[in-house]
Amino acid sequence: MSMNKHILVTGGAGYIGSHTIVQLVEYGYIPIIADDFRNSNKIVLSGLDDIIGHQIVTHEVDICDYSQLKPLFEKYHFDGIIHFAADKAVGESVNNPLKYYKNNIGGLVNVLELSVEFNVPNFVFSSSCTVYGEPIDIKEVDELTKLSKANSPYGNTKLIGEQILQDLHTSGSDIKIISLRYFNPIGAHPSGLIGEFPVGKPNNLLPFVTQTAIGKQKELTVFGNDYPTTDGTCVRDYIHVCDLADAHVKALDLLQKKERNFIDQVNIGTGKGTSVLEIITAFKKLTGEKLNWKFGPRRNGDVVEIYANVAKSESLLNWKCKYNYQDAILHAWQWEKHLAQHV
Ligand code: NAD
Ligand code: WQD
Repeated sequence: MSMNKHILVTGGAGYIGSHTIVQLVEYGYIPIIADDFRNSNKIVLSGLDDIIGHQIVTHEVDICDYSQLKPLFEKYHFDGIIHFAADKAVGESVNNPLKYYKNNIGGLVNVLELSVEFNVPNFVFSSSCTVYGEPIDIKEVDELTKLSKANSPYGNTKLIGEQILQDLHTSGSDIKIISLRYFNPIGAHPSGLIGEFPVGKPNNLLPFVTQTAIGKQKELTVFGNDYPTTDGTCVRDYIHVCDLADAHVKALDLLQKKERNFIDQVNIGTGKGTSVLEIITAFKKLTGEKLNWKFGPRRNGDVVEIYANVAKSESLLNWKCKYNYQDAILHAWQWEKHLAQHV
């Protein structure tokens, strides 16, 4: 079914994109990367070569620039698009909202315009559990949970992005669309050859943990210890990035079976909540490394506790997680050590 199908992967050199490239190739698709490397590093491309055994076609383009992007649609006959390219730093988006609306909304609209113009039938969108905000009583959210007002411009770009897709669908467009609402992706490819490459100081927990253990950061601060959770720290649904990558291929498979004018939204998580302290304890136990950390004040805007209801993803996509957070921690650590030797 996937033989020789060309898939445009915007942001394909990034963290989730690069792991999805591996999975696409494994299933027989031909991925084409469009990325301008504003938040990724070319070391990922050589890691991909080593894992896959051949080079992935990569076009260094800014997807916000229609004139740079259009030639790709003229050159290839895309069967689908996986749209990762976006800026994703929540704090930065509060200080520089226009950067986020320009890239995340402008980029999406550009890619969609070309998808319509060139009749690309299938579209997968990177959405986020941020669309749910803080869950009210039940911490396990399913896709029918009411969407919440965004607490950052970044989060708002995901809400608006989903709304744009809904409006396109309602207009009667042929395009078949699925939004994947990712929970917290962590880990790296088990080979240790590709992984997350944070530019500057990491915002996310696990890169901060591994960078502290390896000495790139002095100390990890745990944001808050007085939350109403089992150990006082926040709870998230941490999903291995390779499982998340696999969900994209399963989403493409589903879209291809559908008729024209289809839309749906699916949570991609493990279904389990894990606290910050559980992550730290597991990291020390699994790696045997020391970790310099302390408690600090709460971080503004943090959700207390959220994890995915995974019933829909498992039934609709015929997909299940293969890894747990312990595997992801070990793989992230292997990748951090690989980076220390090679960069
Ligand atoms: P990432 O920054 O590693 O990857 C994004 C890639 O897109 C980068 O390689 C960057 O260079 C590229 N890019 C950005 N703007 C571009 C443009 N205008 N033109 C060309 N390339 C551009 O981020 P990621 O963690 O892999 O996230 C991928 C997607 O998933 C994003 O849309 C993000 O919002 C979404 N998401 C991420 C998380 C997470 O925690 N990592 C959670 C939920 C949703
Ligand atoms: C996880 C937990 C922190 C760093 C963000 C975005 C969300 C989505 C995923 C894209 C929290 C704690 C963290 C540190 C800490 N992205 N923490 N010390 O906040 O769940 O989600 O990324 O869509 O939209 O908001 O992820 O990794 O930043 O934090 O204690 O130095 O780790 O307080 O409880 P988060 P995170």
